[in-house]
Amino acid sequence: MAYKTKEWRNSMRVTVDYNNMMSKFLGEKGIKDSQIRELKDKAEKAFLYVAENRGKDELYMGWTELPYNQEDIVADILATAKEVRKKFKYFVVLGIGGSALGPSMVYNALCHLHYNELPNGKRKGPKFYVEDNVDPVRMAALLDVIEPEKTCFNVISKSGATSETMTQYLIISDILQKAGVDLAENMIFTTDACRGNLIKIDKALGGKVKKYVLPDGVGGRFSELCPVGLLPAAVLGIDIKGLLAGAAYMDSLCSKPNVNSNPALAQAVLQYISMKQGKNIHVLMPYSDNLKLIADWYCQLWAESLGKAVDYDGNTVNAGTTPVKSLGVTDQHSQVQLYIEGPYDKVITFISVGKYGCEMPIPHGCEDIPDVGFLGGHSMQELIQAENKATAYALMMAGRCNYTINMPEVNAFTMGQLMYMLELQTAYAGALLNINTFNQPGVENGKKATFALLGKKGYEGQKQEMDSAPEIDTKYIV
Ligand code: PA5
Repeated sequence: MAYKTKEWRNSMRVTVDYNNMMSKFLGEKGIKDSQIRELKDKAEKAFLYVAENRGKDELYMGWTELPYNQEDIVADILATAKEVRKKFKYFVVLGIGGSALGPSMVYNALCHLHYNELPNGKRKGPKFYVEDNVDPVRMAALLDVIEPEKTCFNVISKSGATSETMTQYLIISDILQKAGVDLAENMIFTTDACRGNLIKIDKALGGKVKKYVLPDGVGGRFSELCPVGLLPAAVLGIDIKGLLAGAAYMDSLCSKPNVNSNPALAQAVLQYISMKQGKNIHVLMPYSDNLKLIADWYCQLWAESLGKAVDYDGNTVNAGTTPVKSLGVTDQHSQVQLYIEGPYDKVITFISVGKYGCEMPIPHGCEDIPDVGFLGGHSMQELIQAENKATAYALMMAGRCNYTINMPEVNAFTMGQLMYMLELQTAYAGALLNINTFNQPGVENGKKATFALLGKKGYEGQKQEMDSAPEIDTKYIV
């Protein structure tokens, strides 16, 4: 069934304005139409690679189909979420990387900014926390504010072998067991369908733990629109059908192989041209506190997907650009000086909001102090939007590449669009670079080194190799 009316959907369309990337506005420093034309065939090829491999599990392209193939899962998730809301005071996600950044981002975007502090009755669900680290201070702090026996723990790990997540699991399960709590009552696992340690753990617990599947062809950083993100969102009372409808809508907007009609492809091509010009830093700067964590999520998506040593032909390419998170207007007073006058090595992507979640008029006052008095009679929305425009203008005047993603509002439908567009953009960029967008060999190496350091069986060779590294030289310690 279609989500809301066609007019409403069209009024909520997320668009990309890339005028400030082009030489018409930036002069010499900008991209010429001819440069985009020269890439036409390559862009079409990248588009086709993604289109032809949609849904293929073996290529980790299962995420493309998530807006369409989860009707039963969504119904099940909504039923579980209802139970969780009735039964628990707290909901804690245990996970890291792709298993944690998505739930945090959607929570930040679509819940009250001080959700956990809201009085009972004003919150749609239990208090919400995401533990995406193994900092002991953070774990202790969490344990100070929750009551474990009144908490639902959603353990999210595709492999069930991620040291961070499994450490969190061990600590929590020990606490629950010592308190005489049946783990199956207080835990939900989101994991691979049949492989992985969470499946083994569930078996040992009598197969009673509620489980959701992290589908085979969906990698961690592309998983927000599957149960990884949908369950926490539903528990928070977020409209998960709206998220998926937004993703499907964006998919339909990206159905052509042309830069001027496909917003995800346009961004990938512009980023690709910029990379080739040595712009190695990619700043994402939303002008909205609700969108602050999209930058964290996007940094992982972009960095882990595109930062690759070799391409598909075996050439050493050391591909990728460094994503940087920034927040408007806060970082105007911290980073923007560098963006306007520092090296020409960045592309700044703004996310602008058409209508904020509420109005906040600025009262008249201090009329005899011109620096302050002019603000009265405007609103905070006007001010933040003016500062956003002004920063884009100043960057443009300084010849700095920037473009703007326009979100009419921040709601489930526009968030679904935004996520899907950025995922598609990343997939197109990877195809343009001829690299494997969906693996993460660098991260895997770090994981193995940790196993070796902590004495995991089977990693003795790696431990020996690490031990034979040069001795620490105290002359380099100051
Ligand atoms: O994007 C990825 O694949 C990674 O960031 C993983 O999400 C992260 O390493 C956690 O892995 P797992 O889900 O197996 O615990």
